[in-house]
Amino acid sequence: MRTFLNNFKKLVVEIIEGEGILYLISSLFQRFKKFVYVHMLRYKIKRLTKNYSIKSLVDFTYKTYEGLIKPKQKTSEIIQLLELLKPQKLHVIVEIGTMKGGTLFLLSRIATNDAIIISIDLPRAKFGGGYPKYRVPLYKSFVSKNQKIFLIRADSHSKFTLKKVQNLLKDKKVDLLFLDGDHTYRGVKKDFEMYKSLLNEQGIVGFHDIVVHPGDQDVNVNKLWNEIKEDYEYLEIVEDWDQQWAGIGYIKKKKR
Ligand SMILES: C[S@@+](CC[C@H](N)C(=O)[O-])C[C@H]1O[C@@H](n2cnc3c(N)ncnc32)[C@H](O)[C@@H]1O
Repeated sequence: MRTFLNNFKKLVVEIIEGEGILYLISSLFQRFKKFVYVHMLRYKIKRLTKNYSIKSLVDFTYKTYEGLIKPKQKTSEIIQLLELLKPQKLHVIVEIGTMKGGTLFLLSRIATNDAIIISIDLPRAKFGGGYPKYRVPLYKSFVSKNQKIFLIRADSHSKFTLKKVQNLLKDKKVDLLFLDGDHTYRGVKKDFEMYKSLLNEQGIVGFHDIVVHPGDQDVNVNKLWNEIKEDYEYLEIVEDWDQQWAGIGYIKKKKR
């Protein structure tokens, strides 16, 4: 304990000498602020009424407490996706890629009142890095009284994760699978192949980042998208094909 305190004292002195006391105070404040925001946001979410428009819910995620639950999406695209999904009565949603909880919050708002929502994220993974544990109560507060939410902090590619999802769903089928986790070709393909077996007959799969990303060679969702889309009824929600990121692809089984 004494060594720990001595090391801590040494670190504080080093920071003050190197960066100044104002830097130390502001860094501590930044960290502390996030914890406080998390609790304040839970309270705010509890008081949100049901009759918010999709646009105002999206605004809420971007503007409240410095974008604490901001989705990593193009605003116009996520609004269009939610408008399309809302009338489809989503009872079961599986999301891969929770991160700040932006899409998780929005999807839980357009799901049915009795929905089951599962979101998977691997802490410190590529393409966003997941989320710290202290955010768990915040994400759990997204759902209303009769909805259920399950957060799985694990690799979506692991067979144990798939098994966990299957156990949670029991005999229920998935209405929406939203893929926004591993963005490599092999990664997103694996997610698609592993989880599509859970879909119901008219289940929807949403793919984020179908636009070509010249700035990040690891993002190749577009390659998988172009390989599979013609096999399904599909829709591309893209504000501008030259925007170099984002873009949402949406597929459903073709009607016979
Ligand atoms: C782009 S972010 C998700 C953004 C979120 N859907 C939103 O818009 O609000 C991608 C997330 O996927 C997670 N991820 C990457 N590879 C993963 C894997 N194999 N299993 C689970 N999560 C993964 C990252 O940790 C990151 O938090």
